[in-house]
Amino acid sequence: MTIKLIMLFALVAYVSAGRKTGSAGLDLIKFSEGWRPDFYYDQIGQKTIGYGHCCKWHNNCNDIKPPLSMAQGEELLKKDLVEYENCVNKVAPGLNQNQFDACVDFTFNMGCGTFQASDVLKGIKVQNWSAAANSFAKYNKAGGRVIEGLTVRRENERKLFLK
Ligand SMILES: *[C@@H]1O[C@H](CO)[C@@H](O)[C@H](O)[C@H]1NC(C)=O
Repeated sequence: MTIKLIMLFALVAYVSAGRKTGSAGLDLIKFSEGWRPDFYYDQIGQKTIGYGHCCKWHNNCNDIKPPLSMAQGEELLKKDLVEYENCVNKVAPGLNQNQFDACVDFTFNMGCGTFQASDVLKGIKVQNWSAAANSFAKYNKAGGRVIEGLTVRRENERKLFLK
């Protein structure tokens, strides 16, 4: 094969794999989830550890021996993020890194279904970036109540999206 052909294949593989969460996104997710080396029960009573690793979806965390090191916590988080990265790559292809990272933070917190139905995605689809960014703020409620932590998280997503 010629070098040009090999480079073309490498480019195609790179583009079709989609984005991974960048360092700004990881920092935001870590900050928003908080760090806990031992098991705890979150606001809705879910057993959790590390950076928001929810045991319910992971064999009740039977394979985890606390306390976690921060490196182990980051490892777990990166694995947990794959499903949400896949979601954002699929429903909103072509975002820049900061836009992507903001959407992964949102999707990790709110779920792929909420992102898919969101006004954030509507704004992205018509490439109205300010409308997309300003729409994060609408998703700051849980059980019909405004949650201060969600308001802060949505504002951080807005800022990162527009960076
Ligand atoms: C983007 O969305 C905002 C808010 O919905 C709207 O006021 C504005 O006109 C839109 N901009 C463009 C270029 O469509």
